[in-house]
Amino acid sequence: MNEFVLNHPLITHKLAILRDVNTGTKEFRELVSEISAILCYEAMSDAKLEEVTIETPLEKMDTRMLNEKNYAIVPILRAGMGMIDGIINVIPNAKIGHIGLYRDEESLEPIEYYYKMPEEIADKEVLIIDPMLATGGSASATISRLKQDGVSKIKLLCIVAAPQGIKRIEEDHCDVKIFCATVDRQLNDDAYILPGLGDAGDRVYGTK
Ligand code: PRP
Ligand code: URA
Repeated sequence: MNEFVLNHPLITHKLAILRDVNTGTKEFRELVSEISAILCYEAMSDAKLEEVTIETPLEKMDTRMLNEKNYAIVPILRAGMGMIDGIINVIPNAKIGHIGLYRDEESLEPIEYYYKMPEEIADKEVLIIDPMLATGGSASATISRLKQDGVSKIKLLCIVAAPQGIKRIEEDHCDVKIFCATVDRQLNDDAYILPGLGDAGDRVYGTK
């Protein structure tokens, strides 16, 4: 089992508001950020820290800190951008790369239209972020593209996952751990997640 699902009453509560068709853009964005930050804490629970010496107002102290520059966040455009604020609240100095993909409405296959990564991406641990893991096509294509660039440490953070999407990532990329807030029931005939929250990009950007 490569997936970790947030299991907390407050997440269930926040997801209920997020899913609700009557929730407006402002509240939707705020909730996406908040849940993303919590996903980020979970995804970073195995982070390696470096020994450092700091000075408190009273004395020197040997302690440990994260080298944030070892991390890159890669939102899948567009909807993934909605998760950025929450993630950079937690690791503000992480580098950010972008990949632009859209699902072809007929074939449902992801089409890449943009790709720009930070320097030395191969040396970093990459957190791919996208609120929705539906068929898994977009996430799988993103992981494959990053692996082509030599990236070997990848985690996938999403808010709503479908069982099919999780299965697809497990089959295509068994080395990639998935962190999600919920696993929903199924996909509909248009590959939308049920019950889901609708089109995440449209709800983040208020485009419909
Ligand atoms: C959505 C979502 C994922 C993708 C998930 O993006 O944000 O990227 O669909 O579907 P999949 O798992 O079946 O690939 P969409 O293609 O609607 O683009 P958008 O973010 O620009 O709205
Ligand atoms: N993309 C979305 O935005 N929502 C879904 O339910 C599936 C894919």
